[in-house]
Amino acid sequence: MNTTTKILRRLHKFFGVIPAVLLSFSIYAQQSPYLLKKGDPSGIGKWYMGREIAHVMGYQGMYWLERPERESEEKTTLLLKNMEIRETDAIADIGAGSGYHVFKMAQLAPKGTIYAVDIQDEMLAAIQLKKEEGKISNIAIVKGGEKSCNLPPNSVDKVLIVDVYHEMNFPLEMMTTIHRALRPEGKLYLIEYRGEDPRVPIKRLHKMTEAQAVKEMEAAGFRLEKNIPNLPWQHCMVFVKI
Ligand SMILES: C[S@@+](CC[C@H](N)C(=O)[O-])C[C@H]1O[C@@H](n2cnc3c(N)ncnc32)[C@H](O)[C@@H]1O
Repeated sequence: MNTTTKILRRLHKFFGVIPAVLLSFSIYAQQSPYLLKKGDPSGIGKWYMGREIAHVMGYQGMYWLERPERESEEKTTLLLKNMEIRETDAIADIGAGSGYHVFKMAQLAPKGTIYAVDIQDEMLAAIQLKKEEGKISNIAIVKGGEKSCNLPPNSVDKVLIVDVYHEMNFPLEMMTTIHRALRPEGKLYLIEYRGEDPRVPIKRLHKMTEAQAVKEMEAAGFRLEKNIPNLPWQHCMVFVKI
């Protein structure tokens, strides 16, 4: 039992439940990097570094991720070119969804491994099915946690995060574990719809500005190397470990 739990137990014993609850809130407020405050309907009422976190996209949205017009809207082939994938690369796709990028990367790194990480079983099941149908051996499916990517330290050369970061419930904890999983010379490709551009037809909380992303990545030990400006709707931000 840690000291905080001991204090709370004693407080609860002598004064009842209310002071214990109040103290718990104040300890949370002092220790947590997050703020709880009502905001946008598409947000969860939890804020990190001035940004409200969005709701997780449910597995029911899988069909939108696989829409045929996605290539022309997002130029996903160009995004993968930006990653300069080598055939032996170990790459983690964090929040892989239905595996839209996973299967394309598996072809580009035939002697490497693509780790498909997601928190929703239904998404992972869809990837597993497609993997079996295609008899693909270089994809590893990993059940992620809300606070951890569940990958071993120094295990990947590249990390891809497409349209996921803004909905991570514990962004600081997640990015800390991703930082650990990335090899020293590794690269993080953070892809988010551009928050600076009102023409991008995506809800506000599902977009991010470069300035906000840089602030949050720096808090997790990353430095922006470049932002490649060749995607129609998204930032293609390349981060390296500080
Ligand atoms: C909008 S989808 C994007 C899927 C995929 N990256 C794509 O572009 O097709 C967001 C995905 O991120 C997953 N996700 C959300 N928070 C996550 C976390 N902390 N760790 C891993 N996956 C997460 C969701 O389950 C969902 O499958």
